[in-house]
Amino acid sequence: MTRHVRTAIFPVAGLGTRFLPATKATPKELLPVLDTPLIQYAVDEARDAGIERMVFVSHPSKSAIERYVMEDARLTRELRSRGKEDIAEALSDAALCPIEDDVRFVMQTEPKGLGHAVFCARDEVLPGPVAVILPDDLILGPVGCLSEMVRAYGDGDIGHLVATMEVPEDRVHKYGVLSVTGKDGSIVKADGMVEKPAAKDAPSLQAVVGRYVLDGSIFDALATQKPGAGGEIQLTDAIARGASEIGLGGFQFSGTRFDCGSKAGMLEATLKLAMDDPECLAVLTERGLVADTKAAAA
Ligand code: UTP
Repeated sequence: MTRHVRTAIFPVAGLGTRFLPATKATPKELLPVLDTPLIQYAVDEARDAGIERMVFVSHPSKSAIERYVMEDARLTRELRSRGKEDIAEALSDAALCPIEDDVRFVMQTEPKGLGHAVFCARDEVLPGPVAVILPDDLILGPVGCLSEMVRAYGDGDIGHLVATMEVPEDRVHKYGVLSVTGKDGSIVKADGMVEKPAAKDAPSLQAVVGRYVLDGSIFDALATQKPGAGGEIQLTDAIARGASEIGLGGFQFSGTRFDCGSKAGMLEATLKLAMDDPECLAVLTERGLVADTKAAAA
């Protein structure tokens, strides 16, 4: 059985209610962290991980996502004709090409939950395990989270590998949480997981965040998955059902995760990137929003 991960699924059909009113007309996945939309980070992470096919599960009202990720030949031509060669080049490099790249769009017409969104991609995936990337979970670090996971998955024998991080007890109710049985390097072994448990019922503090490498059998599990927490078809529940048969592991990634589906997380990610940008850092320092590191060092 191949452990080569060839497909990445991007569920982008959600309502983005936590970010209203910004998401009334602009999909959450197109909100920028500094100047780059969330979906771009996700696409770049998949590319870096060697993904061959990208399947976007979108909604008819979110066609701007397709317009954003695919190359816009007219815009590139226009920029070139105005002498803006460097911008044209950068845009074209970032975009997906309809000829060279293997890209599919499928629609989830009703937001019935993340599990349902992943199920909508079933006819478009290549054989073998699949990756799932949630673009509103931004993970920054020297190595892409999905690259790390794909490598760990290939080297191991666990069926479902999910990205995990330890969270404080008062936050566990916001996450899927692993029922931990042991540890092996960066992998936390588990025999199940629970979606959004109350702190007193949480099996551990190992919370699942938006990167998954899943055995192909996940689509069979999702086909019969009943609605769970919030009345939605939960991906967590379908993963948990396969845990005993095919194995479940939490991967402790090396990067830092920002919950860009929330205002606070988006602000934190924006500040993090702004601190790495000399022009933005100068403004933040001038306004006294961050410590003047040069003055402190002098
Ligand atoms: P979230 O639960 O964070 O997104 O799902 P949401 O439902 O859009 O946002 P809120 O909670 O109302 O603010 C994580 C990812 O899964 C997608 C979302 O688009 C997001 O990228 N998703 C979620 C779907 O594609 N379909 C769904 O039915 C639910």
